[in-house]
Amino acid sequence: MQLAGKRIIVTGGASGIGAGTVKAYAREGAFVCVLDRNDAAGEQVAAEARGYNAGEVAYFHCDIADPQQVFAVFEQAGARMGGLDVLANVAGVENSGAAEELAPEVLHAMWSVNIDGTVFTNQAACRLMREQGAGAIINFASDAALAGMPNSAHYAASKGAVLSWTKTIAYEWGVKYNIRCNTVCPAIRTPMYEAWLADLSEEDRQAHLAAEKLRVPIGGSMGDVDEDMAPVMVFLASDASKFIDGQIFCVNGGRNMVRG
Ligand SMILES: NC(=O)c1ccc[n+]([C@@H]2O[C@H](COP(=O)([O-])OP(=O)(O)OC[C@H]3O[C@@H](n4cnc5c(N)ncnc54)[C@H](O)[C@@H]3O)[C@@H](O)[C@H]2O)c1
Repeated sequence: MQLAGKRIIVTGGASGIGAGTVKAYAREGAFVCVLDRNDAAGEQVAAEARGYNAGEVAYFHCDIADPQQVFAVFEQAGARMGGLDVLANVAGVENSGAAEELAPEVLHAMWSVNIDGTVFTNQAACRLMREQGAGAIINFASDAALAGMPNSAHYAASKGAVLSWTKTIAYEWGVKYNIRCNTVCPAIRTPMYEAWLADLSEEDRQAHLAAEKLRVPIGGSMGDVDEDMAPVMVFLASDASKFIDGQIFCVNGGRNMVRG
């Protein structure tokens, strides 16, 4: 039980990486509050995680783009758990479009979840954590922020903002409150990736899968949520990583290597 006694909020816990993270945290003995805007799937993940009979698990509806919901739900979740040790802010959205055609409402929808949602959830977590003088925040960026992503410039830009925000609060809140903040750039098979793949033509899909084989040294494709991502999430939430702050963790089989 690497997370026994830890009080954790996971956003985006209804699907993909968030769902795998909720289950891993519950198995390791944490009290986990699952937040999402997809209530049916979120309740289902929470029920499954509760079934391990290890940690406690509660579900809350929360749209992270809505500041009123975020601050109210974090207060409720914090009161329920008696504080907050870790925020895993996994929720995010991705879609495609030619950079020169991206409409203001498309940009706004992307910024409001990936950028504003990161800022609001992090601020709400900080208000709970600073009272304790400790905490850990894990945000989600993307290799798209490091290497670019043709046909998804607004997504890449939103994740670039997550990296800059996280590096900044890693210092600011580290000094003031002993809150450490790190970023994950994953390449993991999830419903988000499957949806992206399904949007490609058959020819492009086959070309993509063939390119993956050459591009990814470990395994030749996207990783697995439970085997490849969840153990890293447990490490970043645990005291084993308590001296790690402001770093970028690329969990991608070596697809893009962070340049020094
Ligand atoms: N899967 C990958 O390989 C990959 C690559 C790069 C970055 N990411 C990032 O990792 C994170 C998780 O991605 P995933 O692949 O598990 O995606 P996913 O689509 O499987 O899950 C995302 C979850 O976030 C929730 N969500 C979306 N908007 C929300 C909002 N406004 N409020 C609350 N919940 C909301 C969705 O309902 C869903 O449950 C995202 O931030 C994504 O951008 C994933």
